[in-house]
Amino acid sequence: MDGNSTVRIGVLGYGNVGHALVALIGENGDAIAARTGLRLEVARVAVRDLAKRRSGYATFTDEAAAVVVDPEVDLVVEVIGGLHPARELVLAALEAGKPVVTANKELLAACSAELFDAAAKAGVDLLFEAAVAGAIPLMRPLRESLAGDRIIRVLGIVNGTTNFILTRMTESGQSFGDALAEAQQLGYAERDPTADVEGHDAAAKASIIASLAFGVRVVAGDVYRQGITGVSVDDIKMAGRLGYVVKLLAVIDSVDGEVAVRVHPAMVPAAHPLASVRESFNAVFVEGAAAGELMFYGRGAGGRP
Ligand SMILES: NC(=O)c1ccc[n+]([C@@H]2O[C@H](COP(=O)([O-])OP(=O)(O)OC[C@H]3O[C@@H](n4cnc5c(N)ncnc54)[C@H](OP(=O)(O)O)[C@@H]3O)[C@@H](O)[C@H]2O)c1
Repeated sequence: MDGNSTVRIGVLGYGNVGHALVALIGENGDAIAARTGLRLEVARVAVRDLAKRRSGYATFTDEAAAVVVDPEVDLVVEVIGGLHPARELVLAALEAGKPVVTANKELLAACSAELFDAAAKAGVDLLFEAAVAGAIPLMRPLRESLAGDRIIRVLGIVNGTTNFILTRMTESGQSFGDALAEAQQLGYAERDPTADVEGHDAAAKASIIASLAFGVRVVAGDVYRQGITGVSVDDIKMAGRLGYVVKLLAVIDSVDGEVAVRVHPAMVPAAHPLASVRESFNAVFVEGAAAGELMFYGRGAGGRP
């Protein structure tokens, strides 16, 4: 392991995540090579609009389809987002025998069976640690570290935007609208916040967690979903008087031998570790038959996380 094996990466997308990824490879390249024996090199970066002014990397292309089959690319990172053309690009990369890393929860929540079958057929990895809960190592622990345990239940705060809004409503008594406006001002919420506040984003992540933790194939549409738009400050105050904190939870458990996956506002006992997860932080609480209670906590979004 002398750091001499070079892995040439084709990056699809140079937005929040793609830009930060390329910067981190530059900053941490020597440390990664020393630790792993692999020298990461950004070979090509595909974007949609070549006319945009960009910093941090010199050579861009708007031909993502050429990047995924380029013989000079060993590994593809997909950070475009959405279903199309991400699905077609990831499939083409896998079919060309290239391992793929994606941060795209929407894609995995809709097409995981097709993508994992293509990866298995090609004999390459499809990895997706950042697709759920950003920087928090969760996918690998669920898939590998806990493979020998039986997971009983997973409870997750997996959407930072709604956790921020609920924190403001709880601690400052702000209305939903005011808290959402503040989240938008701080860049935690999109101008169209539907995917976050209606629970779609959390449902996509819940389906991915369910698939890993319980070994079942679940798509986002299978998940029972209720967002936080119906939660009022009075509801939160009443819950507080009874000793509870209101959180938007992804709940994955096994009921009568069947896996149940749901996302909805829930009253969490104030003494539960999830009750103390504030602001835009994420946390996932896992109950294993042998391991007992585990909590994974950290930054669930942001380019560098
Ligand atoms: N942001 C986060 O905190 C976060 C956290 C975890 C996971 N993720 C996931 O990471 C992915 C990327 O998120 P992001 O926030 O970085 O998105 P973003 O800022 O919107 O960036 C998307 C990038 O994809 C490029 N793109 C769009 N269509 C393309 C096409 N047809 N061909 C080539 N490039 C194309 C865009 O090009 P232009 O620059 O030319 O428009 C842009 O550079 C998403 O799946 C998201 O869910 C994001």
